[in-house]
Amino acid sequence: MARTFFVGGNFKMNGSNSSIKEIVNNLNNASLDPNTEVVVSPPSIFLQTVRESLNKKIGVAAQNVFYKPNGAYTGEISVEQLKDSNIDWAILGHSERRTILEESDETVSLKTKVATEAGVSVIWCCGESLEEREAGTTIEVVSKQLASLKSHISDWSRIVVAYEPIWAIGTGKVATTSQAQEVHKAIREWLAKNVSDKVAEETRILYGGSVNEKNCSELAQQPDIDGFLVGGASLKPAFVDIVNAKQ
Ligand code: G3P
Repeated sequence: MARTFFVGGNFKMNGSNSSIKEIVNNLNNASLDPNTEVVVSPPSIFLQTVRESLNKKIGVAAQNVFYKPNGAYTGEISVEQLKDSNIDWAILGHSERRTILEESDETVSLKTKVATEAGVSVIWCCGESLEEREAGTTIEVVSKQLASLKSHISDWSRIVVAYEPIWAIGTGKVATTSQAQEVHKAIREWLAKNVSDKVAEETRILYGGSVNEKNCSELAQQPDIDGFLVGGASLKPAFVDIVNAKQ
């Protein structure tokens, strides 16, 4: 079964009412490849307005969700609240939340379990630091993250994996096609060995880390790169070119 190409836009903590409205208008008026699945992720304060104004063919993701039901968790958002606002995606395990917000593998896995079991699809992020890459432990690091996830979930159908080498995020230092393909292939092999051939075959594995309209086409040609999770470039009109990278 051919995997549908997937492009996510992670706006991170960027944007204002006017700039987000401009992005929505640009996407609503753009000619997007109908064979590419697109999901954008604004800061939580804009989730409802983006969902209400954006073309329904484009998914909207939260950048975080808590693993408990509604209750005394100041500052958090529940999966029930996402569903109540017709938000059916979440980006979880982003390296910025793992490092800055100190989210453990366990926390990320718990959040992913709760979200997917509630019908929220998840872009689950993994990746290594520069030190870990230079130490040659990239596959070991990503495998450990995957093992934590596997210990908490059984249904992989709502999971899209995003491999984001931390050293490539926001740095302009995109991974080479061979670096990215090597890790993507290893992730797919890990899934085949530890979950099933079906999950390995069907799970989209995205690359994230300094993707732009100039480097996306070559990366998109790699057999185990099924799309992108885009940060900075998702805030610009050229995001459309990345969505259309397979055309
Ligand atoms: O989640 C995507 C993000 O981490 C990549 O950021 O700015 O390097 O495309 P950027």
